[in-house]
Amino acid sequence: MSRRVLVLDTTLRDGEQVPGAKLNIYEKLEIAHQLKKLNVDIIEAGFPSSSKGDFDSVQRIAKEIIDGPMITALARAVKADIDAVYESIKYAQNPLIHIVLGTSAIHVEKKFNKSKESILEMGIDAVRYAKTLLPNVQYSTEDASRSDFEYLWKTIEQVVKAGATMINIPDTVGYAVPEEFGELINKINYRLKNLNDKVILSVHCHNDTGLATANTLIAVKNGATKVECTLNGIGERAGNAALEEVAVGLKLRSSYYNAHTNVVLKEIKTTSKLVSTLMGLDIQVNKAITGDNAFAHSSGIHQDGLLKSRDAYEIIRPEDVGVENMELILTARSGRHAFKDAISKIIHKNIENKDFENLFNNFLNLADLKKEVYTHDLYYLVDRYYFEQG
Ligand code: KIV
Ligand code: ZN
Repeated sequence: MSRRVLVLDTTLRDGEQVPGAKLNIYEKLEIAHQLKKLNVDIIEAGFPSSSKGDFDSVQRIAKEIIDGPMITALARAVKADIDAVYESIKYAQNPLIHIVLGTSAIHVEKKFNKSKESILEMGIDAVRYAKTLLPNVQYSTEDASRSDFEYLWKTIEQVVKAGATMINIPDTVGYAVPEEFGELINKINYRLKNLNDKVILSVHCHNDTGLATANTLIAVKNGATKVECTLNGIGERAGNAALEEVAVGLKLRSSYYNAHTNVVLKEIKTTSKLVSTLMGLDIQVNKAITGDNAFAHSSGIHQDGLLKSRDAYEIIRPEDVGVENMELILTARSGRHAFKDAISKIIHKNIENKDFENLFNNFLNLADLKKEVYTHDLYYLVDRYYFEQG
């Protein structure tokens, strides 16, 4: 039976770390309501100890977003941060404390200037403390993909014994490559199952070398049952794994991954647009699933194939992810088939062959002068042609 993979959306926390993308409380609430419609399992609403504004937004989301996703927020492994998270999410129906602490030598020695033992103690203490406040605690081993495996495992083992209910393996700087990351998750999953099979194994991948989605999907294939993502892949530096790519990837190849999410795919386009508009972050036109060109076809060969059978060049139905329809872009590379399809929406009568050929030639002459031929250009071409014919 296909495994259910939980989706944690961190658009409002990691996504909001994008320079210039700061949202006010009302904008955050609007996105949170939309994330509920998208049916994500967990909303990471912010980092409450960072500012009063962030604390207030997380608290408001925790109070308002009911009968839906779990609400979480981020804390470093210190009491003050954990208290801030607890105070902001305690009103949620299903709250989760998220603690992060590094496990790589770079983090332990260079960032904290501490020993591995004292960092491990800090993590265990943080989890024990969080457990006195709430039953659900996620522990993120920051920079896991650059950590010594035995120290990483020791950390996981100890924080699980201290009560962590979710273990999140971040590829914090996008260093991992899919095969290696898959093996890492496989090894952790195997040991974790023997230690405590109730604990959820999660991944959080960054996109510094464009591999965030691939690393997330290979992790699912190797046993991860929770993924952390953002809409449009926004996030720190080059961003995070894009929720729409992971959710659609799992849907499209569900038997390969033997896994599925409960994301309502039809809400993807609306959510993506809302995030882009409110954060003021344009989506690149060729962005998978949510870019303007993701379902636009411009070459004549493709347009001809699509008009015969959509399967020829369309593996995802645009309407399934909330995009109105596929689009045939008329350019100098378009063929007779696509042109005929477009003008049949303008001329509602039989077009004589001779007229069609003349119109098609006029279209190609115009297309050679422009990047794209729009519907208003077609009206002009058709009107002028029949006017000149008398
Ligand atoms: O990238 C990272 O390591 C994080 C953690 C807080 C999960 O964002
Ligand atoms: Zn991150």
